[in-house]
Amino acid sequence: MSEYMRKIEAAAAFLKTRAGIEPRVGVVLGSGWGALLTGVENPTAVPYAEVPGMKVSSVPGHAGKWIFGTVNGQPCAIMSGRLHYYEGHALADVTLPVRIMKAMGVCVLILTNAAGAVNTAFEPGDLMLITDHINLTGANPLFGPNEDELGARFPDMSRVYDPALLDAARAVSREQGFPVREGVYTWMTGPSFETPAEIRMARLLGGDAVGMSTVPEAIVARHAGLRVLAASCMTNMAAGVLDQPLSHQEVLETAARVERPFQRYLYELIGRV
Ligand code: HPA
Repeated sequence: MSEYMRKIEAAAAFLKTRAGIEPRVGVVLGSGWGALLTGVENPTAVPYAEVPGMKVSSVPGHAGKWIFGTVNGQPCAIMSGRLHYYEGHALADVTLPVRIMKAMGVCVLILTNAAGAVNTAFEPGDLMLITDHINLTGANPLFGPNEDELGARFPDMSRVYDPALLDAARAVSREQGFPVREGVYTWMTGPSFETPAEIRMARLLGGDAVGMSTVPEAIVARHAGLRVLAASCMTNMAAGVLDQPLSHQEVLETAARVERPFQRYLYELIGRV
């Protein structure tokens, strides 16, 4: 067995002894999405630092722990805080939690994030369901030898974001009278925000949002055969849209403002997947 496979199995075996449930749904909470944790029944927290082989996030606003529990009837493995490529982690480490969730029995993965709005019809505070992505980093978490046990060498990416899950997300939006946008998420490495010229390029290429996460997890999830749903919190207009500088403070402020309605939406959605 490869070193990587051993790492996945050791982490999953450890978490199975701690989780208290067998998770079916995996959830990664980005900025703006943390309020979901208020709706978790019988939560068990496990800091990433305690999990053999897992790296720890260094970003303010990213807590760095697993929460296991039930959300609207679904046994969930929730990541409160994620690892980012820009922190200097290898993409294998950034995406290890996805492999761990799969090894624990997760079959649906919900990825959330904060993103800049490239589409000028969007507004800060909007929720965007991700229908597809563009990887502008030149990196891919599947670089290196393929583990055939984990997935195919050349996995199909024509429907990364599961059409049936997107339909469920649209239905919840209609029923709650909570409008959601849809669009293409563009992955840039960060940690610097983009330049106005880069944002014009992203728009020209068909991007509606830009962010520094989610795509590596989605690629690995599809490689592993998980069904994926992803959503972005538009925390700011992307660089150059407005005549003002971008800041992490603005990202956190918008995220805090929308936490409640996003929590209500995501809670309902988790019950449907
Ligand atoms: N760019 C990249 N990532 C982001 C942004 C942005 O404007 N806002 C929140 N995450």
